[in-house]
Amino acid sequence: STKAVILVGGPSRGTRFRPLSLDLPKPLFDVAGHPIIWHCLQAVAKVPGIREVILVGYYEEHVFRDFIKDSARELPQLRIQYLREYQALGTAGGLYHFRDAILKGGPERFFVLNADVCCSFPLGEMLKLFEEKNAEAVILGTRVSNDAATNFGCIVSDPQTKRVLHYVEKPESHISNLINCGVYLFATETIFPSIRNAIKRRTERPRLVSYPSSEQLDASFFSEKLEDGEKNEVLRLEQDILSDLADSNQFFVLETKDFWRQIKTAGSAVPANALYLMKAFQSQSEELAAPSASILPPVFIHPTATVDPTAKLGPNVSIGPRAVIGAGVRVKESIVLEDAEIKHDACVLYSIIGWNSRVGAWARVEGTPTPVGSHTTSIVKNGVKVQSITILGKDCGVGDEVRVQNCVCLPNKELKRDVTNEVIM
Ligand code: GDD
Ligand code: GTP
Repeated sequence: STKAVILVGGPSRGTRFRPLSLDLPKPLFDVAGHPIIWHCLQAVAKVPGIREVILVGYYEEHVFRDFIKDSARELPQLRIQYLREYQALGTAGGLYHFRDAILKGGPERFFVLNADVCCSFPLGEMLKLFEEKNAEAVILGTRVSNDAATNFGCIVSDPQTKRVLHYVEKPESHISNLINCGVYLFATETIFPSIRNAIKRRTERPRLVSYPSSEQLDASFFSEKLEDGEKNEVLRLEQDILSDLADSNQFFVLETKDFWRQIKTAGSAVPANALYLMKAFQSQSEELAAPSASILPPVFIHPTATVDPTAKLGPNVSIGPRAVIGAGVRVKESIVLEDAEIKHDACVLYSIIGWNSRVGAWARVEGTPTPVGSHTTSIVKNGVKVQSITILGKDCGVGDEVRVQNCVCLPNKELKRDVTNEVIM
């Protein structure tokens, strides 16, 4: 059988997602009408034979409770649980720490998904390649521009055999524009021994206190009993495991031609929203608003939202629960969150309107489009790097007729005058 693990991280991560992560853990932020991890879970649920999904992170226990409850109702074939690391153990440390839970029931393989990526998750195709090649590991890869590549894990592969020849995490100089999408399929039989080897290598380093017995090996690695000055190190899949796997000859890459984006900065929720809405539109999802003279698809409107028929929405707009959109409003390429209100004749473009925020009549809240295929939402304006997406945090207010352009606004702010290229704290 096959399982899936979703790496959700914890409260110390997602800092680039501020100000939106101040009020909600990033994995639960809504894009295209659903939490970011809902999209991962949907992909997992479509793989035949997966019965169990484990969310691994170091958020508090209760954080995912409601999400799991709702998901379990929606996807009754899946057993979904959250396992909490007592501290950040790293992308491989978490897997290793919870290996008993992962190994329970004897799955031959398991998927690992970074929660903070947005893609079509072609898990079925990965499984197929895995079987075909009798692989130990399959990684999902995508091509990005040479400029963007060094921000990601880079893969050098044999185009014929699809074998991974080299893997380097965020290299300093260009080695390949095929990058790690943060989606893997591992053979249980070989991945845990690989992690164990990495731990051994570490533990055997002279700077560390050494423990003689092998049972104490894990304990010593994860314990704080390290010599002075030595930080308690985490174990990372990317740096500590994947380059080794490349030497094994049984590590393959599936290159996806479908969409892929990382969700790191708050602004990147806007392109992610657009991509998932596009996907829903292509699959003729019933959830989307019907196209009309005032709805340019794809648009998601929560059933509890109120939208004036003279407002023009889309493309790529999500309107959250109980949001109110007034007459003559124009919204495009934006996310309007729960309980927000956009008053009559206001215009919202390339922006995120935070929970319970208010945009006044005839106001303009706008960002700037970023080029298609660019993997950043920051742009250079007058020689300064600014956020291309305008973001209003929770409980913000924009006055009537006020213009807000390329700004990030922390929660609880009232904007009474025009602002451009500013972070409002
Ligand atoms: N449970 C747990 N514990 N999860 C973690 C931890 C941890 O200690 N650290 C990170 N994560 C989760 C994050 O929430 C995220 O979903 C994923 O693991 C990877 O996060 P990072 O470690 O911040 O890496 P990254 O996003 O900069 O880069 C990774 O993803 C890229 C694709 O988006 C790498 O795998 C790159 O090679 C890859 O290109
Ligand atoms: P596209 O159709 O997106 O190519 O743009 P368009 O200029 O043809 O008109 P659209 O209906 O898409 O509206 C977007 C533009 O409307 C914005 O760029 C604004 O300049 C303008 N706009 C500004 N304020 C308002 C407003 O209060 N209400 C409406 N409906 N539009 C406004």
